[in-house]
Amino acid sequence: MGHTGVVIEPESVLAMRIVRFFRLPVFCLFGAGLLWQGVAKAAAGPDPHSFANLDDFRTRHLALDLTVDFDRKRLIGSATLDLDRLNPQAETLVLDTRALVIRSVETATASGAFKPTRYRLAKADAVLGSALRITMPAEATRVRVRYHTVSTASGLQWLTPQQTAGKTQPMLFTQSEAIHARSWVPVQDSPGVRITYEARIHTPKALRAVMSASNDPQAPLNGDFHFTMDQPIPSYLLALAVGDLHFAATGPSAGASPVARTGVYAEPPMLQKAAHEFEDTEAMIEQAERLYGPYQWGRYDLLILPPSFPYGGMENPRLTFASPTVVVGDKSLVSLVAHELAHSWSGNLVTNARWRDFWLNEGFTSYATNRIMEAVFGTERADMERVQETEELRREFVEVPDDQKPLAPRTVLKDPDDVAQIVVYNKGSLFLYNLERAYGRAVFDPFLKSWFTEHAFTSQTSEAFFDFLKQRLLQAHTGGMTEEQARAWIFDAPIPADAVYPTSDVFAKVDALRTDWLAGRIAANDLPVADWNVLHWTYFLDQMPASVTTAQLLALDAAQHLTQSQNGFLLKSWLPLAIRHRVPGLEAATEQHLLTVGRRYLIGDAYEALAEQDLPRAKAIFAKAKAGYHPYTQGKIAAILRKAATAAH
Ligand code: BES
Ligand code: ZN
Repeated sequence: MGHTGVVIEPESVLAMRIVRFFRLPVFCLFGAGLLWQGVAKAAAGPDPHSFANLDDFRTRHLALDLTVDFDRKRLIGSATLDLDRLNPQAETLVLDTRALVIRSVETATASGAFKPTRYRLAKADAVLGSALRITMPAEATRVRVRYHTVSTASGLQWLTPQQTAGKTQPMLFTQSEAIHARSWVPVQDSPGVRITYEARIHTPKALRAVMSASNDPQAPLNGDFHFTMDQPIPSYLLALAVGDLHFAATGPSAGASPVARTGVYAEPPMLQKAAHEFEDTEAMIEQAERLYGPYQWGRYDLLILPPSFPYGGMENPRLTFASPTVVVGDKSLVSLVAHELAHSWSGNLVTNARWRDFWLNEGFTSYATNRIMEAVFGTERADMERVQETEELRREFVEVPDDQKPLAPRTVLKDPDDVAQIVVYNKGSLFLYNLERAYGRAVFDPFLKSWFTEHAFTSQTSEAFFDFLKQRLLQAHTGGMTEEQARAWIFDAPIPADAVYPTSDVFAKVDALRTDWLAGRIAANDLPVADWNVLHWTYFLDQMPASVTTAQLLALDAAQHLTQSQNGFLLKSWLPLAIRHRVPGLEAATEQHLLTVGRRYLIGDAYEALAEQDLPRAKAIFAKAKAGYHPYTQGKIAAILRKAATAAH
């Protein structure tokens, strides 16, 4: 199967029904039985990436009781689910699991005692995991599963003390999005299901546990932590981290409240640096509230993880998980916080109903990020970030398979982690930017706010958004965008030819300097870079024409010490460019970067470039680095190297 593993079209609901009815033999009719099997079996319900029978049962509340065992790298305990019965006749509850070891399953009525019940774990699908089929006696609405996780659970990373900042204590963190919650909790793992939750977490006494829930910074370190999340959230926002975590408030307090609602959790060596870097978080919340309505989640804290965290950030409610690669000292990368914060509206409040609607999360969030950054840091900064994103779109869109170019693709990916990010983030955001430009902020801002306010705590489809857009913007206000234009943005592949793009005066100057430098009119030493930060540098490098010579890059490096930079973002742009142009002297820095940073976005391009130039070396570095990477990063880098190996033959 190809790397995108495209398997079914949601339109073929009828085909799905037939598949469900006749089971396996029907696959032969389509002549693609093997290709279909994995997803098709799960696709009978409203979410092709979940086995759950969502028309029969819906989970309302989850109670977790888990012990964190660092020696055996496992969570062990129970999950108790309270369910609504939608179909009184239903006799089986199907939950999603992935490599969970089930020890017992019991059911109960709302008021009765738990009694053992029959259950069966289906054969595992490599991506979706195993359906856990539980026999539900009539009237039963509660189920308790005792289980433990495996050491290789796809949603967990277990870090040795050596992999942490402090080097003395181990750490554990979860990453549930997209469909990895099922690897540490048996749940209906679909973004269309919202649950409240409570949890008891038992840890070694020296460590602190935090969750995407009510966190008490004063909670004593007694090995016993209790959490509640009273707002209903989708399962991909279930999150837990355990380690030598300390807290610092980042203030100021909001309005009349004496207590700041923002803060950071981090290991001691990182704590003060992070608190300083993110001191503008409260200002970001206030600007986001002005645009999109009240922040609904109580506190907003950040958790700074070690560099193996596979993403830049993850919008776990009340507690964003963040990569330390954004703590660079000059706040140049804090748009990450604006981004994860914006998810408090786009994503956490109004959620994609299925993963094919992911642009409703990430595209909206990317747009809102720019608006928050503009409000807090000014137009110049925001325009730079906008242009960087649209240039990235121009460069990478051509490489996306055609069927994944629409914001709402017709074909469903086998694995939602394979989503074309450049489409859902950058094209999604550009669409909203075009709507903003077509209608003006006076009209567009209240429109977007009403999308969030009127759909709070629900999961929505692309079609529902299109309907809302037609009614509340296109038909209500003349002279903006036609229905056909909007439909093309959402459902067609190309970026519309009449799209409006942002511009940046600052970057226009950087472009001019690059041109002058390339033409030899200005020397690398004389580039006026005193007030440049990593945004200027990555823009300077990312827009480099292929015709730049090795000698030019070598001179640039000699003058500006790029290879020596400790900034992961700068290295993300510099190393692939320099590797492809065979700039000498990169070995140590390349290896150091790939061995310390586990954030996929910051290392994928360097692996790709290295694999083009010297595949054995790329493989050797990966072999050395792999054990320190998160399972997600391991899988993505392995795929890059596989692709390079095929291309080489
Ligand atoms: N929710 C995403 C991270 C994610 C995406 C996890 C898909 C699993 C599947 C998060 O909000 C995000 O977009 N992170 C970006 C941040 C950046 C755009 C500022 C990242 O990690 O690069
Ligand atoms: Zn995001």
